[in-house]
Amino acid sequence: MASSTPSPITKAIFPVAGLGTRFLPATKAQPKEMLPVVDKPLIQYAVEEAYEAGVREMIFVTGRHKRPIEDHFDMTFELEVALENAGKQELLDVVRSVKPDDMECIYVRQAQALGLGHAVLCGQRLIGNDPFAVLLADDLMVGPQPGRGILKQMVEQFAEWRASILAVQEVPAEQTRRYGICAGTQVNDNLMDVNRIVEKPAPEVAPSRLGVAGRYILTPGVFHEIANQPRGVGGEIQLTDGIAGLLRREKVFAFRYEGKRYDCGSKEGFLQANVELALAHPQLGPGFREFLHGLGL
Ligand code: G1P
Repeated sequence: MASSTPSPITKAIFPVAGLGTRFLPATKAQPKEMLPVVDKPLIQYAVEEAYEAGVREMIFVTGRHKRPIEDHFDMTFELEVALENAGKQELLDVVRSVKPDDMECIYVRQAQALGLGHAVLCGQRLIGNDPFAVLLADDLMVGPQPGRGILKQMVEQFAEWRASILAVQEVPAEQTRRYGICAGTQVNDNLMDVNRIVEKPAPEVAPSRLGVAGRYILTPGVFHEIANQPRGVGGEIQLTDGIAGLLRREKVFAFRYEGKRYDCGSKEGFLQANVELALAHPQLGPGFREFLHGLGL
């Protein structure tokens, strides 16, 4: 699992304090990040992606009602003893693999939901002066093959350019209002030197159709920029506005990752992820495919 050369990015922020209103009633009494896709909660996919990229310090910016996330990454002593006594080694391995020994989980509370930028600011003291990753768990990202996760691809770009890297994908014109949209000068097929980024613009004023997906590698300079921005779209402290400030001082690149993104904050995206990941699942896939055929699909 661990790569031989140390990763330049060892810390990640997971903003998980959001209310998940797009997914009510499922999220009335449970965090949206704990919704399972096939057999794993969304947050575990994001944490595994970060771990694969070399991140070892997972910083969760949480809020009220988010206890299940802490429990998920904690040791479940009774469960482990029960599985051990029952000789269920395979399940025991599954349970233990949720938090590898060399991974640290840290929780910071975001007392008020003041926006994504504010959530990232809550991690400032723990990040210090290091570059870091931000992963939004409701964007489930799947690489083109095992071992080629999206954050890992971004860390490779960071290692080369030593500057902030934003994951981007082309979005339909009518959806620019859902994303941070950026524009700039092309560096190569996959990389753009960003000179503009706007949070959730209307299609008529969007600088391009390149939307930011929920993966960022940022230099610590972004904290100062976030703290100095006025409230943005929706009256919130926006990460995008902090990045807009950053790119006036430093290079920021937009990277077209290889792979797929499922917007699991929406019911449609969540269902799509479940179907596609179930079909790709080594044990469940064949039977599930047969089931879908039986439905005439
Ligand atoms: C957030 C960001 C937006 C980004 C999006 C990706 O928006 O503010 O810039 O494009 O995540 O999922 P949210 O989906 O939280 O409204």
